[in-house]
Amino acid sequence: VIVGGTVSQVVKSRNPAVKEGEYIADYAGWQSYSVGGGPGGGVFGVNKLDPNMAPISTALSVLGMPGMTAWHGLMNIGKPKPGETVAVSAASGAVGSMVGQLAKLKGCRAVGIAGGKDKCDYVVKELGFDACVDYKAEGANLHKALAAAAPKGIDIYFENVGGAVQQAVLPLLNDFARVPLCGMISQYNATEFTGGPNWAMLLIKRIMVQGFIVSDHADQTGKFFAEVAPLIKAGKIKYREDIVKGIDKAPAAFIGLLKGKNFGKLLVQVSDDPTRK
Ligand SMILES: NC(=O)c1ccc[n+]([C@@H]2O[C@H](COP(=O)([O-])OP(=O)(O)OC[C@H]3O[C@@H](n4cnc5c(N)ncnc54)[C@H](OP(=O)(O)O)[C@@H]3O)[C@@H](O)[C@H]2O)c1
Repeated sequence: VIVGGTVSQVVKSRNPAVKEGEYIADYAGWQSYSVGGGPGGGVFGVNKLDPNMAPISTALSVLGMPGMTAWHGLMNIGKPKPGETVAVSAASGAVGSMVGQLAKLKGCRAVGIAGGKDKCDYVVKELGFDACVDYKAEGANLHKALAAAAPKGIDIYFENVGGAVQQAVLPLLNDFARVPLCGMISQYNATEFTGGPNWAMLLIKRIMVQGFIVSDHADQTGKFFAEVAPLIKAGKIKYREDIVKGIDKAPAAFIGLLKGKNFGKLLVQVSDDPTRK
């Protein structure tokens, strides 16, 4: 079974702590039914979900692993200060959309990078970023377009994609910039090494690059919830989910993700969701 975070409804339970009909967030993978789970399991500790508090799908998006990834990378590695400029790639996605909104709440200028006009419009008009650069439309002009969107340079680059976008961003980093290295989606299928960033620039500008994997920071989950759940409840953080129906559609949806076909956190719904009217 291909691994993956899941939200499930309990259909049979011999565990008194988990009742039939309840909802849990787990790590049950790409399958319609799973055996196991229950409190104490899973990467982030299985959560019992309250559908009245937030839609159960948010345990996989803004209140789950992607939300925590954005929060941890930005707050604990990026350490944003008011007045700084934060740039984030894959800005309309599950992680990127949260990064920019948290940056705004911290008093920073938020610059998104995304593929296509619709995604960029959403990032600026709905999410409230200061600017968004469409890397697909800009092509070879991307560096110039980014320089115009970040006139004071970039203090934090939240890296989600690598590749050509990274090449355009790096020369714009300011002295003492921080780079939470979250993802390199444009290079996941690469079969050859195409060269990396110029380390001399990292040295001269005293730039800090820190790779991280969110599951190493499960101890931060409580803090993440305490800070972010009220922001979502108050409508200060918006989110978007791209829900594909049917497990048979999962492979195509996954391939589409690697081409930017998703718009928001990509989720696959494998059975009816009684909480969704
Ligand atoms: N370190 C960790 O613990 C951790 C945890 C979760 C996620 N991640 C990483 O964080 C990144 C964002 O994840 P997510 O769940 O929020 O995904 P997402 O942004 O919802 O979806 C992925 C987006 O990446 C962009 N993309 C795909 N191929 C690209 C390419 N060749 N060049 C440039 N952009 C491309 C597309 O957006 P556009 O249409 O805008 O290009 C696509 O919609 C991914 O790299 C993921 O692997 C890391």
